[in-house]
Parts: sequence; C-alpha cells; structure tokens
Amino acid sequence: DTKILLMLVIGYLLGSIPSGVWIGKAFYGKDVRQYGSGNMGTTNTFRVLGKKAGTLVLLLDMFKGTLTACLPLMFHSNANIMLIGLSAIFGHAFPIFAKFKGGKAVATSVGVLLIYNPLFFCISWIIFLLTLYITSMVSVASMVGFTIISIISLFFGDWILIIVAFSLTIFVYVRHWGNIERIKNGTENMVPFGLWYKK
Ligand code: G3P
Repeated sequence: DTKILLMLVIGYLLGSIPSGVWIGKAFYGKDVRQYGSGNMGTTNTFRVLGKKAGTLVLLLDMFKGTLTACLPLMFHSNANIMLIGLSAIFGHAFPIFAKFKGGKAVATSVGVLLIYNPLFFCISWIIFLLTLYITSMVSVASMVGFTIISIISLFFGDWILIIVAFSLTIFVYVRHWGNIERIKNGTENMVPFGLWYKK
C-alpha cells in the first residue's frame, strides 16, 4: 500500500545521506573517498579525518538505519521492521546523493538491528569488537560479525531475518572484495591496537 511505499522512499532517502562525504567536505575540506581505502564509511572517516569525525559518521550511519526501522511504528503500520530497514541499507549502499556509489552497509545494518532485535544488536557489537581486538582489521571484524549473526539467526531468528542476514552477508563480502584481496596480500589497513597489530 501507499504507506509502505512512502516508508521505503523515506528510508532510501535517509540511507542515501553520505554522512562521511558531507562531514568531510563541510568541516575538513576533504573528500574521504579520495584517501585511505576510498570508502565513505566510518572506518575510512576515522582513518582520514580522525576520532571526532569517525564517531560522528558511525552514529549518523547507524542512526539512518535505526530511524528507518522506527518508521513502521511512526506510521502505525505493521510492516516488517527488517524489510523497511533494508531501504536505508540499500540507500547507504547505492546513495542517490553520491552518484549511487555508497558504503559497505555495515553501520546502517547494525542500526536497523538495534530496533529489530536489541539482543542481536548487542551480540553483533560483541563479536565485532572481539574480532577487531584479535585481528586489528575492521574489515575482518565486519565480515565475521555478519557471518556469525547469520548463523545465529538460523537458530533464533524468524525466516525474514534469516534471509536478510544471509543476503546482507553475501553483499558485505562482495563490497569487501578489495579488503579481501589486501588481507590475502598482507596489506590490509590495521587499527593501531589488537593482537595481530604490527607496525
Ligand atoms: O565498514 C567498512 C569496513 O569494514 C572496512 O572499511 O575503509 O577499511 O575498507 P575500509
């Protein structure tokens, strides 16, 4: 119906906001896509612009997903939170405000998960931080996080979560193809802490 269509459009537009690009250009005079990994997401914003900008982009990118996942509640609709949330994730990955070249869908997905299932949200963060602490690579932590949440959803999720989680996991791997190549070559960017970190 029209409500669902409206929610999907709003979600897509929210998700399309390229926060890393806009914050970089507005406050630092830098386009993050021209530095580091070339990605517009949280990790590369941290890398290129520092902690303040990185934290802001993390919160904004998550919030795009969280707010979109709240739309069914705001519109008094019983549409599935995860399916509406997908529109923001899609917007983040293919943003209309950045020539459809977007991020890797990590933070926005986690933002949706917060509303869909807060316990899964917490578990995803724990897996992410633990993997990041061991490997020192955000890309690995992101991929491991999506993989494990998919596996957990097989046992504790409904079929919508299972399908969405596995589809997103495949998408996240595809978007991390460059990272996977660098991991194989031993040239992937590392955060300056953790067990595998080498200077
Ligand atoms: O969220 C994206 C992260 O997993 C990797 O980012 O910039 O290292 O490619 P980046």
